[in-house]
This record gives sequence, structure tokens and C-alpha cells, in this order.
Amino acid sequence: MSGELINAAREMMSTTVDKTKMYVDMEQSKAYAEHRPRYTDELFKTISDYCKETVPSLNLAVDIGCGPGMSTTGFAKYFKKVIGVDVSETQIACAPKDIPNCEFKVGYSDKLPFIKSGTVDLICSGESFNLMPQKETFAEADRVLRPGGTIAIFGYDLPSSDNPEIDAVIQKMWVTMIPYWPKDSTQIFDRFNSVELPYPGWVRNDTLKMTMRTDLAKHIGMMKSTWPVVAYGRDHPEEDFIGDISRQIEEILERSGSSTKEYNVNYSFFILMGHKPKN
Ligand SMILES: C[S@@+](CC[C@H](N)C(=O)[O-])C[C@H]1O[C@@H](n2cnc3c(N)ncnc32)[C@H](O)[C@@H]1O
Repeated sequence: MSGELINAAREMMSTTVDKTKMYVDMEQSKAYAEHRPRYTDELFKTISDYCKETVPSLNLAVDIGCGPGMSTTGFAKYFKKVIGVDVSETQIACAPKDIPNCEFKVGYSDKLPFIKSGTVDLICSGESFNLMPQKETFAEADRVLRPGGTIAIFGYDLPSSDNPEIDAVIQKMWVTMIPYWPKDSTQIFDRFNSVELPYPGWVRNDTLKMTMRTDLAKHIGMMKSTWPVVAYGRDHPEEDFIGDISRQIEEILERSGSSTKEYNVNYSFFILMGHKPKN
């Protein structure tokens, strides 16, 4: 399933939503921590390898808009220390506490006073740069990055499953929720094609893909972690729309005759990476 249809309706999207408050509901953050995709090592290695091209060793990575840490923890294998930063206290509360070289902080992408200038080897943003004040975030990234350090931003397309009938049900739901998407989500739907990194020679990588095995409960959990579902649910307490979606998917799975009732959900990534010039 693509975001093209939703993107086409960008005029109907919200320009008023406070993007720092979209992930502050504890139930939503728990669903996020449990059901959003765990990224592959390939993604973390691709970014870390790019970073290694211009710095002697990988000491410090900072993941801005880290959520409950799925974009942060995979760097722990490559960097001596990783700091995840997110504006939402509930997202940070749901981040893991048992990874010795990972630390999580509540904070803003464009204000990182706890990070000394010129000390960071990688500043990364996963599935979050569209929500941030971009000019100010680039300026703060430039302050904290060492010469040769890397800025990387990445995202993924709305996932598609290997069952077109399930995709049709979910696509219909997203279309109903178009007025609840913040307008800046279209940057994700068009794969950050409108974003220019501030460093010369920056690159794109559109090759990485990932497949996750899922079932109805996990898939519904994933949807409950999204802002449009939370916001639409608040405005329409009389509607059991998640119950309706569940029943429709359940019927499709019954008809399919699958004994496990599991199916695949497929993700495609886009990564933008650039090196801060050395002089
Ligand atoms: C869609 S989630 C991405 C979480 C995680 N990076 C991932 O890959 O799944 C976006 C996150 O960005 C955070 N966020 C939004 N604006 C922010 C800002 N200005 N500074 C820091 N975090 C921000 C939100 O609170 C939310 O947790």
C-alpha cells in the first residue's frame, strides 16, 4: 500500500496539530514500543558504515525523535555511546533501560544543551524528521557534530501486507483519517524527496527493505500506535472503528484458510545521509 492516495489529499490534512504532542498518550506509547517495527541490523550498519568513512572511530551517536528507542538501540553495537532524545515523556518512559551504552533523555531536536559542541559522530532521526522544526534542527545538528560527523534521516513507506484484501481495508481506514494526518506527513509519503541535507555531496539510499511476520493483534497494535488512529478515536468515541477493522481482517483471514492466521508486512526504507565538512 502506498501513501500516494493520502498524499494526493494533502489539502485536507491538519495544519494545526501540535507535533510535539502527538505521542504523549501512555497507551499509544506502550503500543508503539510493543508493535512498531524493530529495524534490521542492515539499516544500522548502512548508516554506521557511512559514518565511518569520515571519522576515525564511532564514539557518540544521538538519535533525535527516538520514540521508545527502536531507532536508537541498534546503534549500540556500533557506537561507544548512544543517546536517544524525544520530546515525549511517555515515549522515553517506554524506552529500554537495560542497554549499558544507551541513554534516553526528554528533549527537543533543536535544543540539545546537554551535548557539547563538536562531539557527536552521528546525529540520526528515524521516522521523525517531518515532525521537527527543520532549519533549527539542522543548525543544532551542525553545532553538536564533529567535523566529518554524519547526519542521517530515514523513514519508511506505509507498509503493505502480502494480502491485498487486508491492505484494501487498511487503506480505506487511512483515507477516512486524512484530516488527522499532520500536513508535514506528506514529507514521509514522498520519501523525503523535498528535503535537502545541509552538507555538500550528501547521498540517498532507497534500497533497504524488511519483512515482518504479523497477526491480527500485532497489526491492530501497530495501528493503535499511530497518531491518526489516536486522534480519530478521541473525536469519535461512539465509533468502534478498530473493532470494525479487526472483524473485517478476521473474516479475510478465515476465508484464506490459513491455519496460523499470520501474514507478512513489508517495509521499504529511504535514508538521507551527509557528512559535515572537515573544514
Ligand atoms: C513516529 S515517532 C518515531 C520514533 C522512532 N524514531 C522510530 O523510528 O520509530 C516520532 C517521534 O518524534 C518525536 N518528536 C516530535 N517532535 C520532536 C522534536 N521537536 N524533538 C524531539 N522529538 C520529537 C515524537 O514525540 C515521536 O516520539
